[in-house]
Amino acid sequence: MFVTALLLLVTLCAQGGSGEKRDEAQRPGHVSVVIVGGTGDLAKKYLWQGFFELYVNQVKGANTFSFYGGGLTPTDKGTPVLFEILKAVSCSKDVSKERCAVLKDQFLRLSQYRQLKTLEDYQNLVKNIEQELQQEGMTEAGRLFYLSVPAFAYADIADNINSSCRPTSRAWLRVVLEKPFGHDFRSAQVLASQLGNSLKDEEMYRIDHYLGKQVVAKILPFREEHKKFLDPIWNKQHIERVEILLKETLDVKGRIPFYDQYGVVRDVLQNHLTEVMTLLTMRLPLNLSSSEEILQNKLQIFSSLLPVGKNQAVVGQYQAYQTEVQQELNKTKDHVSLTPTFAAVLAYIDDVQYEGVPILLISGKMLDERVGYARILFKNDVFCLQNHNSVHCKPKQIVFHFGHGRLQYPAILVSKNLFKPVSKDSEWKEVTEHADVDVLGLPISDYYVQTPTKPREAYSELISHIFAGHKNSFISTENLLASWGLWTPLLSSLASSFPRIYPGGADNGDLLDIHVKGREISYNSEVVIINNDQMGGTSANGFQVMQGKFRSVEMVSAWSEELVNRLAADIQEAAEAAVHKDGVFHLALSGGSSPLALYFRLALHHFSFPWRKTHVWMVDERCVPMTELESNFHSLHDHLLQHVRIPYYNIHPMPVQLNQRLCVEEDGGALMYEKEVSKLVNGSSFHFVLLGVGYDSHTASLFPGNKVDEHGESLVALTESPIKPHQRMTLTFSAINRAHKVAVLVMGKGKHELITQLSRVKDNPDKWPVTGVKPTNGKLVWYIDYNALIG
Ligand SMILES: *[C@@H]1O[C@H](CO)[C@@H](O)[C@H](O)[C@H]1NC(C)=O
Ligand SMILES: *[C@@H]1O[C@H](CO)[C@@H](O)[C@H](O)[C@H]1NC(C)=O
Ligand SMILES: *[C@@H]1O[C@H](CO)[C@@H](O)[C@H](O)[C@H]1NC(C)=O
Ligand SMILES: *[C@@H]1O[C@H](CO)[C@@H](O)[C@H](O)[C@H]1NC(C)=O
Repeated sequence: MFVTALLLLVTLCAQGGSGEKRDEAQRPGHVSVVIVGGTGDLAKKYLWQGFFELYVNQVKGANTFSFYGGGLTPTDKGTPVLFEILKAVSCSKDVSKERCAVLKDQFLRLSQYRQLKTLEDYQNLVKNIEQELQQEGMTEAGRLFYLSVPAFAYADIADNINSSCRPTSRAWLRVVLEKPFGHDFRSAQVLASQLGNSLKDEEMYRIDHYLGKQVVAKILPFREEHKKFLDPIWNKQHIERVEILLKETLDVKGRIPFYDQYGVVRDVLQNHLTEVMTLLTMRLPLNLSSSEEILQNKLQIFSSLLPVGKNQAVVGQYQAYQTEVQQELNKTKDHVSLTPTFAAVLAYIDDVQYEGVPILLISGKMLDERVGYARILFKNDVFCLQNHNSVHCKPKQIVFHFGHGRLQYPAILVSKNLFKPVSKDSEWKEVTEHADVDVLGLPISDYYVQTPTKPREAYSELISHIFAGHKNSFISTENLLASWGLWTPLLSSLASSFPRIYPGGADNGDLLDIHVKGREISYNSEVVIINNDQMGGTSANGFQVMQGKFRSVEMVSAWSEELVNRLAADIQEAAEAAVHKDGVFHLALSGGSSPLALYFRLALHHFSFPWRKTHVWMVDERCVPMTELESNFHSLHDHLLQHVRIPYYNIHPMPVQLNQRLCVEEDGGALMYEKEVSKLVNGSSFHFVLLGVGYDSHTASLFPGNKVDEHGESLVALTESPIKPHQRMTLTFSAINRAHKVAVLVMGKGKHELITQLSRVKDNPDKWPVTGVKPTNGKLVWYIDYNALIG
């Protein structure tokens, strides 16, 4: 089949002229293209189409081709699948039907499926390539391997390629890789060094398909062409801010096993948006074709980017995501994923040119529209007294519109009060007739609009660059690591942040609007109201809340989500009653992971909670500085306090750190806290105490064997925990048992054994501390979820 195809090629070569410009990185001869993962989704959707276009464009050139689709399935199964995919490739509009049929037929003949599983398979592939070359008496130009497989397979495949697929002649080897390239700095570094054992940096082409988008690829040339206009205004004196957005309307259903480990920051911000940011802000290279210079200038931007702190980011998650995660990952209803599906991040570049210019990077799933763009908004210092619509009063901006959106096509828009673009690039044209749309606050007629003469898919574009050996549009190792260096610290600091839940689509309204104040950003609206009937119908009705008795006192039981809702509602009821009666609500809260879902619920759903009249006390605290993640107060702050409007003088962390040391008896921290309680809480009786219970039945920080009698009448004591950090400060039974209401929350299958034990044992606080909870005049209620109760 190889032979016929070559004959055809020869005929075609004779027909066409060969006026095409050829890059020196390209040499004449035969090129073998191997798509590993050749029957996968990406290959089906974009890659074969891209290689077909490459083939069509090179038909008149000095290269011949063979194409291999590689996969794990045996040849007899893979072959028909591949041919179905190949039959679906299409020609551009300017190719006649007849010619298209001929081209497709040739392409099909040049392509074959190969099983590529073992090293031997790779060796056989190469044997095949070399035999054909010899039989045809052809010189070899190069071998292109496109790895369209999960990243964990890269290192092994690269190793196979290095050990058996390297061309022996002067032919080139190019290996193309798709993201993800790691999920943080460390893993990216490990992957890079594994690949580095098998491939040279210049042989690797890491794809960021955004760099193949025509408008993105045009950013540097546009800046260069309009230097005269842009130089004076491309700086902090004139730029108000830069916005880089990728909004999507789709959800991630069906992709959760991948997505839940990555989230939007790793999926979009770390790569696509960061690349666009560097293209917009890097120093223009003297030579636009020099990959080295472009890389150097990009790296320079990374080195002047200020670290992005936690207060420079907000995250969100579309509402249906939790349920999708529970279903696709086979998790129970108490599984909570904090993976963000929306993020807005504020970056600053610390150099004289851009110092203080806010750069917003924003992306999300399930938003109101699908659009990608970068906008440079310039300051407008003209004040219009009367005609606010005069052109010089309107926003001055340049919009790099990557695609979709209301405009529907890729374009670069320059507002008419800036300058008129003068592109000499024949691949771009000015659009003068357009439908009447608004783009980012201006009617389209207020812009000069330029668009590519011929729309091209990003992958086709990049495939032609790989073939030509142009490295500009690919991510070098240094570039990759620099980007992870920027994002990794932010990702770690966001790891335990609760995303704002948004309903999705147009219903998001102004829920995700961002407020930039100083060097920080926040959501513009303080509160989020999501009613139960918007919850996607998964909760409420199906599961009843059950009342019963546990250890002879009241018990509420339900699936965890319901249970948490019920407890939150009970706390609010207690708060309202206390405020009504005493004008104040004293609430003592525990640390640990069980109550986090409760705090989340209180923060996001209880808007009429009387927080302004609430005092929050700690049930117990670990003897670590408050700034540490292990601190109960730290966690309470992150999950609840910072999200509600509670006066800070109503917040009472335990004084575990005094005189620059932690929980030293002589410093009297416990006594101090006790005094504060006595002074502010009538009769030292908290209105509500929330407790949990550990596997060893400890509650608060009262552990088995702690000899609770020794605490006597004290309300606060220092104790020792069997697990680290050992030292604790805790409310004693004296304090707990004076409370008006005490709730013990127990959740999860892991607690089932404990609950069974506890249902049998007699009160013995030394051995089973939680059995010491017996409010003298108040009420104790157990909140136990079905998993813990039934197992
Ligand atoms: C490829 O494999 C050879 C051994 O076959 C090894 O010497 C070489 O360092 C490897 N890596 C590269 C980048 O060539
Ligand atoms: C620009 O860079 C390209 C690629 O490195 C090189 O071929 C070309 O000669 C350079 N042009 C100038 C004017 O230096
Ligand atoms: C889901 O979890 C249940 C219970 O743990 C198990 O029996 C079932 O096999 C799991 N299903 C899948 C698809 O993992
Ligand atoms: C303190 O509590 C007692 C007993 O419940 C009550 O009689 C008294 O009015 C309370 N004092 C204040 C200041 O609320």
